[in-house]
Parts: sequence; structure tokens; C-alpha cells
Amino acid sequence: MGNLNFARSSSPLDHNDGKSLLSKSLIEDNDCEYEAVDESPFGPLKNVTTRKTFAYLIAILNSTFPDQDFTNLQPTTENFCRIESPEELIHRFNNILLSLGKKEDILNWIWDIINSYMEVIPSKSSSPYLSAQNVNHSTGHGSRKNSFNSSRNFNGGNNSPPQNFIQDGCQIYQFQPSDESIFEDLTYPYQPMWSYYWFIYNKKKKRVTFLHLTGINKAHYSNVNANRQFDSEGKKKSQSDKIITGDEEEEYDENDEYMDNNEVAMIDEEHDNTDIPKMQLATAVDFKLSNGKSIPALGLGTVPPEDPSELKQQVITAVKAGYRHIDTAWYYGTEEYIGQALKELFDEGVIKREDIFVTTKVWPSFWHSPEKSLDKSLQDLGLDYVDLFLQHWPVALHGDENGLPAEPKHDDGSLWYDDDPVSGIKFIETYNKMEDIIDQTSKVKSIGVSNYSIPKLKQLLPKVRKYQPVVNQIELHPQLPSQDLVEYCKIKDIVVVAYSPVGSYGAPVLKVPLIQELAKKYDVTTNEIAHAYHILNGRAVLPRSANLERIKTIIRLPQLSAEDLNKLEQEGIKSPKRYICDPWGYGLGFKYWEGDTLSTVYN
Ligand SMILES: NC(=O)c1ccc[n+]([C@@H]2O[C@H](COP(=O)([O-])OP(=O)(O)OC[C@H]3O[C@@H](n4cnc5c(N)ncnc54)[C@H](OP(=O)(O)O)[C@@H]3O)[C@@H](O)[C@H]2O)c1
Repeated sequence: MGNLNFARSSSPLDHNDGKSLLSKSLIEDNDCEYEAVDESPFGPLKNVTTRKTFAYLIAILNSTFPDQDFTNLQPTTENFCRIESPEELIHRFNNILLSLGKKEDILNWIWDIINSYMEVIPSKSSSPYLSAQNVNHSTGHGSRKNSFNSSRNFNGGNNSPPQNFIQDGCQIYQFQPSDESIFEDLTYPYQPMWSYYWFIYNKKKKRVTFLHLTGINKAHYSNVNANRQFDSEGKKKSQSDKIITGDEEEEYDENDEYMDNNEVAMIDEEHDNTDIPKMQLATAVDFKLSNGKSIPALGLGTVPPEDPSELKQQVITAVKAGYRHIDTAWYYGTEEYIGQALKELFDEGVIKREDIFVTTKVWPSFWHSPEKSLDKSLQDLGLDYVDLFLQHWPVALHGDENGLPAEPKHDDGSLWYDDDPVSGIKFIETYNKMEDIIDQTSKVKSIGVSNYSIPKLKQLLPKVRKYQPVVNQIELHPQLPSQDLVEYCKIKDIVVVAYSPVGSYGAPVLKVPLIQELAKKYDVTTNEIAHAYHILNGRAVLPRSANLERIKTIIRLPQLSAEDLNKLEQEGIKSPKRYICDPWGYGLGFKYWEGDTLSTVYN
């Protein structure tokens, strides 16, 4: 269940300890530790105004979530980022809400409230933003699905957001806590699937609007409505949407001319059974990794099409549609085109580096030199770091110092290994070298594995020195549920990332009658059913498509019932089918691996 909540809280300084939270060390003390960190998302920290901005946002967070303490948060890009334009914020905000089934008049209502708070956006009748919404409305698209499309028209079209929104000096910041456990004890009786926190800060008017969206997975939290208690006294609120007013303008500090008042708007709407959003975006879901970082649930696969340069447009299309996760590998030969796409997206300001999660992998023929493989990938991608570096397969193939040939063969055509694929342990050396990379360089944020069976994980995990694999990327779909392996990964706190979600070329998985039935039932594409099967079970998924229209339109997340999810699982249990049966997978201990005569132990 994804949901939007809308309410308006009072000033952060309502709370007695508000002022103390704007501590001297943050604001006044020039010798504070932040001197050492010159830059921050708010500007140079040596400037007192920058520190005040930061302190002010912390006070708002402390006030909005009074049970939490945000005073130890650092003003780093790990926790905050600046959103460059109101257009970008409106784009993100509207797309999330429309895809959740919220109507455009609710959006209008929300932006009207923000207008009146900030006094910078023209009133409804004259707002280009609102007229843009009305124009789209008048195209006759009444359904939720079409509202969603109309939002995209808005963002891709000529309608621009209100100019004075930014001209009046608004700065927009996104709070993206690097450690989301700070929210674990909130009064919400559920674990959020995703959350967004934005501050619109009008320095000139000395006002802040705080927007907060949270998504909840109804499949996992079916009792939420029965148990919800939103207010701090534990009283259940009424079922209707409400605005909690907080109009009072409070003095921030009598002697401080910089900011003398503030207001906060917080989204907070009671869920009820008639208003449970029917659809959310898969692109809005993230999963927490065991090292505290997050991975976006929907990633674009980049196995090359016939002409690999097409990848550039595929990536651009995906990112503009909302994908924030790209899966690639040295082996695919597509990294330079992904790099071109990312450069264009960064240059045009569509995203910043920290907005996108990029995975690459070291291939078995490079098993001896994972850092060299990574350096080549980084060079082609045009990046300083990747978010996730995976060991592509737990085997060692005989490649030269440049990892070539990628598929070395003996004269008889058999694969040329440097180590026995069944009993060898050189693959562990590769993983340990990857640990050294994360330990000694800033080239990767997280490391993980791919194509690891239970026997291989059992060999690796006791030999991990310091950095547990955060993911295992494996073939997974309703025809191959691999329950034992999925369960084993869960126990070991390893997020499963599903590759070949539709069975690769020809998309055979989508021909399964149950998937077609469910697509009709939930009024989505078969691809979206295949993705929901993973995402609703806490797994990331990597679709690939050369069809740009398909890339754009397979991003909704239907809320399949527990019963339907179980039916999908049963499909593969009844008649399992693996589609990727490459010869370098022989001997690894995977079930249903066609041609594998080497494996002796299975998962
Ligand atoms: N770690 C590993 O060893 C490993 C192995 C395999 C894959 N992966 C990763 O996972 C990603 C996805 O896996 P995959 O490449 O095997 O592909 P996939 O996403 O399972 O399948 C993609 C293929 O299905 C077709 N397709 C998708 N939807 C369709 C529809 N509705 N109707 C008809 N055809 C449809 C696509 O054709 P169109 O192009 O026409 O849409 C494309 O040919 C890879 O790109 C890669 O990033 C990792």
C-alpha cells in the first residue's frame, strides 16, 4: 500500500527544545567541526548563514518527528541534496501522487496550500502550473492511468513551473537519510517502503514548506488500518483527510535577522479502505541493504542489443521515465554508451550523480584483477565510483591481464578455467580483493555477488573478511522461484536482485497464462506483473528492453494480493524452467541448469 498523507504541522519551534536544537556549535561557533568540510548541499559551511540553514532544517525535522533526534545528522550529500529547480520537484512530486491514484484536484489543492504558505506562486487562476494541469485534464483523460500520462506531458512539454517560485530565492533540499533506521521508532505502525522529504526554503520570505510522502506495502501490512495511530497521544484520527493548521508565525530568534519565522507543511492523510491507492510506481521503491545503503527496486538491464550504441537512448529514456538504477557489467560492452547517456543527463541537469544507482561487475576472466576491471568500467562509464560492484560469477576463467579473452576455450571447445569450477576456491580470492577495493579506495559504495548458489554462498560467507555481500543477483521469475536460495539470502541479509525477469529473449515468462490473467485483472502489462512478483517480495528486478516505449511504460507497481503472489510462486514450483544456462554456470550447484553435468551439490 503506497499512500500519501497530507497535513500541516505547526512550527518546529513549538517544541520547547526547538531552540536548543539550533545549537551554538552549528550556528555560532566558527571553530566548529564543520569548518573542515567546506562544501555541503547548503553551501560552504564556513558561512554562518549556511550553518543556520542546516540547523533550521534539523529543527524542522526534530519538531515534525518529535520522537526522533536528528541533531547528529551531518550536512553531507549522503543525507541531503539540493534540487536544482522547482520543475524537478513538481515533476517528482506530481508523478508519485498521480501514480498513487491521487486526483489532479488534490495536486492543485496541495500546490495552492504551498502557494499560500510561500506567497510566491501565483493563485490558482493565474498559475501556469495549474493551467498546465487543466490543459492536460481537458484532453479527456479521465482515468488514473491517463492522469499519470498527463503528468508526463506536463513535464515533457512546454509548460514551465511558476517562474517566481525560484526567482524569489527559493532553495529546495531533499532529505535522504543515509541511515533510515532513524525513522524506525516513529509512531507509524509499519515499516515504510519509501519516503521522500523535501524542504522548500524561501530565504527572502523566511519560510519553509516541508513535504513528506511515505509509501507502505499493503501486502505486508494488511492490518495497518486497524492499528494505525498517527498522533503523538496515540489517538486514532478520523478517516477524512485533514489539514492540521499551524498558521502561527513564530520568532526564530529575536536577534536574528536572518530567519525570524517559519512554517512547515507536512503531508499526512489517514488511510482508509476506500482511499487505498491502487497503483504506485516501481521506480519509487528502494530497498535497504545490510550496509545501510539503499538500492532502487527497478533497475534497467543493459545486456547489449545488436547495436550496443542504442543503449545510450535506452538509458536516457529510462532515467527520464524515473528509473534510478542501471545494471551493467564489463562483459556487456555497453558501459561507454551508458557513460555517454549519463554525461548527457548530468550535463542537462536531469539528474545528479548521487541520484542514480549504478552497478557493474567483474567477469570471471578478470578474476585475478577486479580493480583493473573496475577501473576500465569507471573509465567507460565516466564515473568516479559505482554504487555496487558485483562478482559476476563465482568461477575463475583463464584471461590475460586485461581479462581477455572473456570466454577462453581449449582446442576442444571446452572452457579454459584457472581453477576447478566445482572444488576451486580462487573465486573467494576475487571477492576478498573486492573487499580491499571498498576498504582502500572510494571507487565503490557496496560490493556483492551474482550467480551464487547456496553451496557457493556457504563457501564464501565464512571467508568474508569485513564486507558481507549486500546482494546476490540471480535469474529469478515466476517460472524459477528458487525458494531455498531466496530464503537463504534473506537469512543472511542479502538482497536478491532478479535478472531475466521475463526469461530473456522472446519473453517466454510473459506467455504463462496466469501472468496474462493477472495483467488483465490488475489492468497492467504482463511485464509489470513480472516485476511486482519480485518487488512486493522485497527483491529488486532488472528488466531490459530495446523498445523505448516499453521502457517508459512498464514502471507501475500493481499491488498483487498475497493470494496472487502465492499463485505466481506455485507456477514455478509446479513446472520450473531456467532460461540462462551458460556453460560457465556448470558445476555451481544450481538446479535446472540445462547441460550441467558437473554439479554434485544443489541448492
Ligand atoms: N548477472 C548475470 O549473470 C545476468 C545475467 C543475465 C541478465 N542480467 C541482467 O539482467 C538484465 C535483464 O535480463 P535479460 O537481459 O536476460 O532480459 P529480460 O528482461 O528477461 O528480457 C528482455 C527481452 O524480453 C523482451 N521483452 C520484454 N518484454 C516484452 C514484451 N512485453 N513482449 C515481447 N518481448 C518482450 C525484450 O524485447 P524488447 O527489447 O523488444 O523489449 C528483450 O529481448 C540484463 O540486461 C542484465 O543487466 C544479469
